[in-house]
Amino acid sequence: MSFDRSIKIAPSILSADFADFGREIRAVEDQGADWVHVDVMDGHFVPNLTFGPPAVKAFRPHVNTVMDVHLMIAPVDPYIDAFAEAGADILTAHVEAGPHIHRTLQAIRGAGMKAGVALNPGTPADAVAHLLDLTDLVCVMTVNPGFGGQKFIDLTDKIRSLRAMIGDRPVHIEIDGGVTPDTAPLVARAGADVLVAGSGVFKGGSVADPAPYGENIRAIRDSAELATGQFA
Ligand code: DX5
Ligand code: ZN
Repeated sequence: MSFDRSIKIAPSILSADFADFGREIRAVEDQGADWVHVDVMDGHFVPNLTFGPPAVKAFRPHVNTVMDVHLMIAPVDPYIDAFAEAGADILTAHVEAGPHIHRTLQAIRGAGMKAGVALNPGTPADAVAHLLDLTDLVCVMTVNPGFGGQKFIDLTDKIRSLRAMIGDRPVHIEIDGGVTPDTAPLVARAGADVLVAGSGVFKGGSVADPAPYGENIRAIRDSAELATGQFA
């Protein structure tokens, strides 16, 4: 995985058909996804349950791009090795998930993965100020985590501060929640490069009719690239 700040679209399979993850993953990749975003929820840190390491391991052979695993669980540390073994490329933990995020990020890198740190909407950018040399990605939640299809919360000031704090470090800024062709320009202009989208990608399509996935991915990408002058 080489580092660059080009716009990357990461469909969240939280909005996929849960009975058909393999084909859904292959469909979004065929339709232009750059990464695949996998939302792990524990019914404790967030009020919803999804899946754990065995399911993530089963997704792995279907992902040809980057498997970006977003943990909405507490505690995190007891599960790091299981997610490494499941084949996560990036493992992201929430700064709010426990008192020792610094140790958690070290352990994620120690297990051979890229380390991400996520911020809930109410958590300030400063919470990661002393973590930037330990992390490969900062995920800014633009909804309260737990569910797909929620309304975008405008946190462009926070994204702009993070972008300034990161400077030349090879750290991605990922936006998660309510990303559409209308909101993508705001976050891309503020400095985000990875755009997670669940409902915004999967709406209107299916494994039997995946073309809408491609149209949705293109619409988000084009609006973000136009806003940042990257449009080719
Ligand atoms: C929310 C998840 C998101 C979610 C985004 O807790 O972390 O990844 O799938 O869904 P949309 O794009 O529908 O807001
Ligand atoms: Zn997510």
